[in-house]
Amino acid sequence: MAKDITQTQIDVLNELKERASSFVGIDIIARELEISKTRVKAALRELLNWGYQLEQKSTQKSELRVKYIASPDILFPHEISFGRDEESFGFNIYSFDRVGSTNTLAHKYAERGEAEGTVVIADRQTAGKGRLGRSWHSPARTGAYMSIILRPEILPTYAPGLSLIAAVSVAEAIRKLYKLKTAIKWPNDVLINDKKAAGVLTELSAELDHVRYVIVGIGININMTEADFPGEIHSRATSIRIASGDKADRIALVQGILSHFEARYHDFCDSGIAGQIKAIRGYSSILGKRIRFSYRGDNAEGTAVDIDESGQLLVDLNGERIAISSGEITLTDSY
Ligand code: BTN
Repeated sequence: MAKDITQTQIDVLNELKERASSFVGIDIIARELEISKTRVKAALRELLNWGYQLEQKSTQKSELRVKYIASPDILFPHEISFGRDEESFGFNIYSFDRVGSTNTLAHKYAERGEAEGTVVIADRQTAGKGRLGRSWHSPARTGAYMSIILRPEILPTYAPGLSLIAAVSVAEAIRKLYKLKTAIKWPNDVLINDKKAAGVLTELSAELDHVRYVIVGIGININMTEADFPGEIHSRATSIRIASGDKADRIALVQGILSHFEARYHDFCDSGIAGQIKAIRGYSSILGKRIRFSYRGDNAEGTAVDIDESGQLLVDLNGERIAISSGEITLTDSY
């Protein structure tokens, strides 16, 4: 079910947020929005019910004045799109309390023609999909599970590059907002302290020589505690909260990821992945390390040497340099 906050409530809220550091008279809001003061008051009551923190005071003439303090921890579309322009990723958002998989839903929306940059986001997934047919643990109120619809004019073979730049965008948003040291385990696991904090699942609808659309699905462990991870995941997963010791602002993180990803995506569409390889290498946690991977149907072990200009991992396999373009790798001595 989509969140059902009304447009009037959002309009009143935006009037307050635009003047976030000062009190605003409800007569001013009423005038700006061309609605009655009674409607403004009703909207304010509803905003308080949603969990918005608003400070209120009355003037000597008994005029009510209100100041915006903080928003509730709800993935409201209007919160994510606040301050973003109409062309930006995350301006058009579908937000749900619960879905099967945001990637699956995003496919449907892409098929019906939703624009590039449309985001499908959920507070919880009941059938979250991971890479290689795995599931993605998606409990409520602690993570963000989102899928972005893209319509790049690229050959299908270049699509894996989108996963890499999505992972870099997540890693840099977390690093910038929470000052945590993030790394990427090729191709697209985002790690903090060697444990997985986020993953990317890129799916495409394509013909041989033409991409129809791409869905980039991003799952981030944000406010999970250790107890929120079930047995087998526990030893391999972490969250921003576990790593930093503090609850993180989910909206700010989603906005940060969308901004970083949008900038990288446009660069990718204009000039390919070459200009981003430096950042990808910089975040990579495996270069120079011994890894295990599957090669020509067998288990193999080698040294990760580099990431090439098409995003493939170059591995030294017994003196021979080979390139891997997908699949799962593990470090021989840890995660
Ligand atoms: C992985 O590391 O295996 C990739 C995980 C991707 C999970 C995200 S959550 C949002 C989107 N919807 C899904 O069903 N999966 C992706």
